[in-house]
Amino acid sequence: MRVPRTAWVAVLTVLAALALLGASGNPRPVYDNGLARTPPMGWNDYNAHGLDVTEDVIRHSADLLVTSGLRDAGYVYVNVDDGWMAGSRDAGGNLRADPARFPHGIRALADYVHARGLRLGVYADAGVRTCGGLPGSLGHERQDARQFAAWGVDYLKYDNCYAGPGCDQTSCDHGDEVAARERYAAMRDALADAGRPIVFSLCNWGAERVWAWGPGYGNLWRTTADLAPTYASLLAVFHATVGLGGYAGPGGWNDPDMLEVGNGMTATEDRAELSLWAAMAAPLIAGADLATAGAATLADLANPGVIAVDQDPLGRPARLISAAGGLDVLARPLANGDVAVVLFNETGTAATITTGAARAGAPAAARYTLHDLWAGTTATTTGPIAATVPAHGAAMFRVAKG
Ligand code: GLA
Repeated sequence: MRVPRTAWVAVLTVLAALALLGASGNPRPVYDNGLARTPPMGWNDYNAHGLDVTEDVIRHSADLLVTSGLRDAGYVYVNVDDGWMAGSRDAGGNLRADPARFPHGIRALADYVHARGLRLGVYADAGVRTCGGLPGSLGHERQDARQFAAWGVDYLKYDNCYAGPGCDQTSCDHGDEVAARERYAAMRDALADAGRPIVFSLCNWGAERVWAWGPGYGNLWRTTADLAPTYASLLAVFHATVGLGGYAGPGGWNDPDMLEVGNGMTATEDRAELSLWAAMAAPLIAGADLATAGAATLADLANPGVIAVDQDPLGRPARLISAAGGLDVLARPLANGDVAVVLFNETGTAATITTGAARAGAPAAARYTLHDLWAGTTATTTGPIAATVPAHGAAMFRVAKG
């Protein structure tokens, strides 16, 4: 039968429209600054040092990213969090670094970091003050974006404290708050005009359903309040984020917060966090103190198979395909046709978790190769995938046809 041309045009139009819709059913307008085609990777001082950050800590950490091999594994952003600014702007209204903590200033720090093949991130706030009480960028967006660009900054984490004129607490309850969406748009547009590509990280803790509009505003958006180095926090942040995969993709990512690997959870829980973050295509921003991190922490962070899943160019986050009794199976399609599978045991006792290659979305085949990304072993299967997983642990496989 000959199909009329108009019918083909109609079919193609519908297909194109569907392609623009995320799994969420929402259009996904991507903020296109050409950056973060895969989730950003790097290190940030906050989880290890809080507000007590100095130029020496940042320089030393940059050196350690190089000598530990983490830079070459992909951890290239060195992000300075809250605490770097002086308590007031200069006479010209410019942000300035705290002269005692950062005596050589941010430009010199950017040069230091760039000379080591790394990139520099800084932190600012979309309200009147940072969460640590330092100057906010509300009303100064253009001036600050130009300043960051002039300093050679490559990444901006933009927080959400003191969110409007008159707000003197982190969340306003007296009607003065300016919507995050409006304040983040102002900095997005200021960065676009600042003349330097800068990754834009939205940190409004999942407020205002940021995942629904974040893709048109920035390269990553926090989905929850701060992650803490506890298993309970890991579980809560995972649960809040895993269903949002349809909103993320190349150029814009769900951010379940910086890694707590090496900061106090068990080795099993640390590996579970890395497995889940990689499956969800989360940014991998290490948060351990690199000066004291143990060899196991560094080796886990650098696991090449896990990183390859996180950084897969298809950019499709995993879906939770079963979750019976706290035994979770996540599956993520990969660019070369392989599938990543995570078997996560949320419970307090070891358990066997089972799924199948077809169920996980692998193409039909008589046989599959199972790469166990933590054990470093390889096995074959006709379809079944199973592992005995310790309490709070995760097994992670890359499943290849043949
Ligand atoms: C907020 C953010 C954290 C960190 C602190 C700094 O809590 O969510 O990630 O940046 O502020 O004060």
